[in-house]
Amino acid sequence: MDFTQAIEIAKNIYWVGMYLENDPFQCHPYFIKNGNESILVDPGSMLEFDAVVKKINSISSMNNIKYIILHHQDPDLAASAPEMEKLINRKDLQIITHSRMVPLIKHYLIRSEYYEIDKHQYKLQCRNLDLQFLTTPYCHSPGAFVTYEPKTKTLLSGDIFGGIEESWEFFAGEDYFEKAKQFHAEYMPSRDIFNYALNKIEALDMNLIAPQHGSIIKKDKIAPLITQMKALECGLYIEKGYRDELLYTIEALKQKDLALVSSLKQLKEKEEFLFQKAKMADMGEMIGNIAHQWRQPLAINNTIISILKEKSQREILEDSELMSKLGEMENNIQYMSKTIDDFMRFYHPEKKKTNFSVSDVVEHALTIMRPILNKAGIEIHFQTCDPSYVSGYMNEYTQVVVSILTNAKDILIHRKIKDPSINMLLSQTQDSVILAINDNGGGIKKENIHRIFDPYFTTKHKSMGTGLGLYISKMIIEKNMGGILKAENTQKGAVFSITMEKVNG
Ligand SMILES: [Fe+2]
Ligand SMILES: [Fe+2]
Repeated sequence: MDFTQAIEIAKNIYWVGMYLENDPFQCHPYFIKNGNESILVDPGSMLEFDAVVKKINSISSMNNIKYIILHHQDPDLAASAPEMEKLINRKDLQIITHSRMVPLIKHYLIRSEYYEIDKHQYKLQCRNLDLQFLTTPYCHSPGAFVTYEPKTKTLLSGDIFGGIEESWEFFAGEDYFEKAKQFHAEYMPSRDIFNYALNKIEALDMNLIAPQHGSIIKKDKIAPLITQMKALECGLYIEKGYRDELLYTIEALKQKDLALVSSLKQLKEKEEFLFQKAKMADMGEMIGNIAHQWRQPLAINNTIISILKEKSQREILEDSELMSKLGEMENNIQYMSKTIDDFMRFYHPEKKKTNFSVSDVVEHALTIMRPILNKAGIEIHFQTCDPSYVSGYMNEYTQVVVSILTNAKDILIHRKIKDPSINMLLSQTQDSVILAINDNGGGIKKENIHRIFDPYFTTKHKSMGTGLGLYISKMIIEKNMGGILKAENTQKGAVFSITMEKVNG
């Protein structure tokens, strides 16, 4: 290759640089031949001035140049611009650059007008030529950019993809990354910033990259080179102190992250544990409820047995009396067995969601709760509406209703409310079914209203409950069934409402 001549690297795009012997930092100006609107790209410094002018005149003429592109402000790239201006000697000559570069470039004593790419939609159209400009901020100047010529798919890339080569090659070989590595590690400010520019460049359809230093990169080398460039640590990392500090910070952040993950795991375990414990507490409550309902029939059966025994010993037991007493006992036993069924049905975990009528569920909950509420002297009313169906776990819903009723009962007893009552109201809107459970127990204290669904929160005396009932109720309605359970105060007491999405029965 004859480096004393201009070399056409793509149709009408010429390398017009000068080979500086034994200089690992070659600088390359390029010339885009476009009649009397030709373009000189990164003219270089006064070191190569004569050779560059000679080459341009060999393929065109200096006064055919209408534009000089300055990809950034460095002297190796821009210092010869004012001397070029003098030779070109055209009033309509324009310096194409980014507005951020102008305050610096003017110090070279440039006299031509500026064509600021950011004020021209990042493009230039002249004769049959279309150029696109892509900003590559901070690589390595705030206003740095690259130029893309779509017809030949050539990228004129300024400092990006430049190399420092002991033995310079015109076209990049397989080992070009090794040659370009050091320059980029030092001149690109950080990997993030560099990758931002590389991502933009990567999106272009490219046949050739012509950088301001190093070698020209042909199509097959482009993609692998960009991949390697993307992984390169650069910029601040060359400062050892900074690098060490950064690595230390990254390590410290990693440790914190690990600690956070493990504490999250613990939190999850704890939640699981609480849920299990809540289930156990509810089991305990269930057994208590069964015991309560069994007490009376058991006592009656016991009495009957004593009477029967006594009469039988004294041989005064008549068959008819025996039959009637046995019948009575059988009824009691049936009642006890039904109690078990009721509770089992409501505690048995379900696997599949079903559509169920809230009205039916409330009736079922009331068969469990009525004896307990009656005994405590609490009046209970249930006002229902047309069958309202929701989708979810019927037994769990029952459990929640029982839990809220139990809670209301405890408060009413604890606060010794006169004429205690619970009013349940089932209503529906276009898409929701709402069950509201009102009591006249004086309401939830203002300071507690945000905490009543917290695990372990309880206003009750130690002997009365664990505080897990409302927590588990909220989990069931919101986590398991996607509904909403909330508590508010009314004038006389508290209202708990369960809102679920309405479905067709
Ligand atoms: Fe530079
Ligand atoms: Fe440069």
